[in-house]
Amino acid sequence: MNAPEKLPASHVMKTYRRLPMALSHGRGCWVWDTDGKKYLDGLGGIAVNTLGHAHPKLVPALQEQIGKLIQSSNYYQVPLQEKLAAKLCELSGLTNAFFCNSGLEANEGALKIARKYGHDKGIEKPEIVVYDKAFHGRSIATLSATANPKIQAGFGPLVEGFVRVPLNDIAALEKVTLSRPNVVAVFLEVIQGEGGINQATIDYLRALRRVCDERDWLLMLDEVQCGLGRTGKWFAHQWAGIVPDVMPLAKGLGSGVPVGAVVCGPKAADVLGPGNHGSTFGGNPLAMRAGVETLAIMQEERLLDNAAKVGAALKAGLARELSGVAGVVEVRGQGLMLGIELDRACGELLGRAASAGLMISVTADRVIRLVPPLVLSLDEAAQMVAILCPLIRAFLAETQPS
Ligand SMILES: Cc1ncc(COP(=O)(O)O)c(C=O)c1O
Repeated sequence: MNAPEKLPASHVMKTYRRLPMALSHGRGCWVWDTDGKKYLDGLGGIAVNTLGHAHPKLVPALQEQIGKLIQSSNYYQVPLQEKLAAKLCELSGLTNAFFCNSGLEANEGALKIARKYGHDKGIEKPEIVVYDKAFHGRSIATLSATANPKIQAGFGPLVEGFVRVPLNDIAALEKVTLSRPNVVAVFLEVIQGEGGINQATIDYLRALRRVCDERDWLLMLDEVQCGLGRTGKWFAHQWAGIVPDVMPLAKGLGSGVPVGAVVCGPKAADVLGPGNHGSTFGGNPLAMRAGVETLAIMQEERLLDNAAKVGAALKAGLARELSGVAGVVEVRGQGLMLGIELDRACGELLGRAASAGLMISVTADRVIRLVPPLVLSLDEAAQMVAILCPLIRAFLAETQPS
């Protein structure tokens, strides 16, 4: 990374701390910056570029769609919405989808469904169970559902109606909700991404399904980051053999084109009617085509199997190289959604990795996160291990636990 001496004054709001580099183009799991330096992409646009960059089947399909119709509005039938909704329902066992443009929008849709579900049952102040370390987005409602106080600071008053519990503790959930007759839904990520790659266990997910059935609550699983093949199944909850009532999706669905969806089962699908919810851009033909093509190419190229196989090899390689290294707490995650927890804050590894030709992210201050495109090869995974592990060892040798 060639850091310019001084960056020119920016007219973009300072909502991100950015590295002094810009990407120019990509191919597969590789990207190049504007100086021509090449990087292995362990970030995938933050779990977005499912098919990698410039996929040879996706690019012409999108070009063709742009030449035909980008936006038609939801005043009319949108056949590509029907196609993508039918495919998502086939893959998930759910029945209907609403389309929007991002993860937080999908989650807003889910939260509105939960509240309306409560109101329809005569509950005027519905409550939704949410989780420690959760991340659901940065709108006022979704940041209220998020657990991180840094994300909430400065934006009060927060939206009310959330009850927070620890992950993987069904006794805690039962205790907290015992005296709360207004609970209508449980809302969680199957694998927490921004919270540091923390997995809900299979037993916990099954117990949640049972509790939601017993109490007539909606089980709402935020698969925005962990869904769409990343763990080796279409959706991460499918490892537990359960079906949710509401499933927000986004990130990987359009392989880079913004697409969000709220996919619902019979308990939730008819809660919203005309006038209850909407989106100008949601479900536009370009986004829908990106979704349809992404899912078709994932199937054709068996990318779920690839995510499982290459993810297991990547995890094993990281565990092998980092085993016994003081300061490494754990290598965890599933498929191509992996985290390496250190005993100290490690945000500066982002820049060090970029200098070494690797894109990564750091979440929850001390967890290095790898969410590469699902087209990652075994050889590229080995290269990732070979670049990253020496960087981690050097960083740990030079710094102190925090
Ligand atoms: C689990 C989860 N939900 C929601 C979001 C918000 O998605 P977006 O940034 O597209 O609004 C994210 C983003 O990281 C996420 O990881």
